[in-house]
Amino acid sequence: MDFTAKTVLVTGAGGRLGREVCLRFAGCGASVGALDLSREAAEATAAACVRAAPERGHATALQADVADPDQVEAAVAACERDLGPVDILVNAAGIFPNTPLLEMDLAEWERVFAVNVRGTMLCCRAVATRMVARGAPGAIINFSSGASTSARAGAAHYCGSKAAVNMITQVLAIELGPHGIRVNTVAPGLVMGDVLHAGDTAASPYVASMLKMYPLGRTGAPSDIAGAVLFLASEELSPWTTGAFVQVSGGSHTGRPHVPLSRRDV
Ligand SMILES: NC(=O)c1ccc[n+]([C@@H]2O[C@H](COP(=O)([O-])OP(=O)(O)OC[C@H]3O[C@@H](n4cnc5c(N)ncnc54)[C@H](O)[C@@H]3O)[C@@H](O)[C@H]2O)c1
Repeated sequence: MDFTAKTVLVTGAGGRLGREVCLRFAGCGASVGALDLSREAAEATAAACVRAAPERGHATALQADVADPDQVEAAVAACERDLGPVDILVNAAGIFPNTPLLEMDLAEWERVFAVNVRGTMLCCRAVATRMVARGAPGAIINFSSGASTSARAGAAHYCGSKAAVNMITQVLAIELGPHGIRVNTVAPGLVMGDVLHAGDTAASPYVASMLKMYPLGRTGAPSDIAGAVLFLASEELSPWTTGAFVQVSGGSHTGRPHVPLSRRDV
C-alpha cells in the first residue's frame, strides 16, 4: 500500500496497537503525527517511524489528553503545522480497567467514557471540521473492541464505551459521507505483548480460557490489527467502505466456537 504524501494522525500512538499502526503507515510513505498522553511514548514512536523510513519519513510527536477539547485542538493544529493537513485519523487511544460495577467508583466510570468516547468524538470533530473546511476527502478509523458486542465481567464501562464508539462511527459515516470522508471501526480481539497459541503453557488460566474461543487458535499480533487499519484507510482498497465494523479477532466474535459439534439432541 502506498500512503506517500498522506498525513496520518494516530492517537494512542505510544501503545501496543497505535505504535504498530504508526510504523506501518510510515513504512508506506506517510507522514505520521504520533499523539499520546505520554510525551515520552509519543516521541519514541515518532523516532521509530523516522528510523523505519529514513529516506522519506516525516513524523512528529504530539502530547495530549484526547479527553480534553483544548488539548485536542492544539495537537491537531500542531500536527497540521508540522506535517500538513491530516488525511487519515486513527483513534487508538483507549483505557480498559477491569472492575465489577459494585466495586467501581464514579471517577473510574467517568474516565473510561471520557477517554474512549469523548476522546474519539473530539478527535473526529477536530479533524473532520478541517477536512470539510478545505473540501478534502479523508478516512477515519476508530478503535472499538470485541467487548462492544460481547459482554464480559468487570467491563460495564469499557463494553459500554466501545458500543458507543460503534454507533458514533455509524452516525459519522452518514454525516461525513457526503463530504467524501469515510468512517469505519476496527474491533480487535485479544492482543498482548506476545502471541500465545492454544495449549501454550505460558498462557494464564484467563488467557487459556479465552483461547478456546479463537478458531484460529492464537491471540492477535499488533500487525494483524494494523493491516486492517491500513486497508480501511486506503482509498485504493476500500473506497466504498464506510460505517463498517471490522472484527479482527481470530474469529472469536463468531458465537460459540468453543462448543463442540454435536450430531444428536443434547
Ligand atoms: N490490546 C487488545 O487486546 C485490545 C483489544 C480490543 C480493543 N483494543 C483497543 O485498542 C486500542 C489500543 O489498545 P492497546 O492494546 O494498544 O493499549 P495500550 O494501553 O498499549 O495503548 C493505549 C495508548 O493510549 C494512550 N492513552 C491513554 N489514555 C489517553 C488519553 N487520555 N489521551 C491520549 N492517549 C491516551 C496510552 O498512553 C497508551 O500509549 C484501545 O482503544 C483499546 O481499547 C485493544
